[in-house]
Amino acid sequence: MKRIAVCAAVLVMTWAGAVSQAQGLKSVEDFSKCMKAIGGAVGGASKAMQSGSMADAKAEVTKAKQYMGAVQAFFKEKGKADPAGLAGDAIAKLGALETALGGTDAAAAGAAFKEAGAACGACHNKYRDQDPTTKAFSFKPGVL
Ligand code: HEC
Repeated sequence: MKRIAVCAAVLVMTWAGAVSQAQGLKSVEDFSKCMKAIGGAVGGASKAMQSGSMADAKAEVTKAKQYMGAVQAFFKEKGKADPAGLAGDAIAKLGALETALGGTDAAAAGAAFKEAGAACGACHNKYRDQDPTTKAFSFKPGVL
């Protein structure tokens, strides 16, 4: 468990470094690092919620929301309005989750977490592919 958390932290740092140099997601590789960082942050939020720390969970969700802003900018720059809109939905849902985690109602936070997860799934179903053998994720053909 500890090892997974450390890996996620390293990924986030690697990606944040790359982005501060490049001023945004310039390549599919950057995009992939960003998604991994989002996955790490959301996974961290889920763990923190399970252990009852809404404040720690909120900090992770704040990161995920910031990264999602870079995802939205990536699609906007490429003139892809539909996935940019789905990224906007995810930002809104992560924002609602952030607000819920700032309160004391764990059930409300749980419900907001599910909604944020659904926003991830909406874009993944439409635009994400997975190699059946290597399990690696990629863009569906023709998306970019
Ligand atoms: C606007 C579209 C979009 C939204 C919204 C989105 N994703 Fe993704 N995600 C993708 C695409 C496309 C890929 C495949 C490309 C890749 O992995 O580089 C992906 C890949 C991933 C991966 C696999 C990364 C890898 O390459 O191993 C993770 C983890 C992930 N997303 C987590 C999330 C989480 C968590 C959310 C919601 C908080 C989310 N994503 C929301 C488009 C999206």
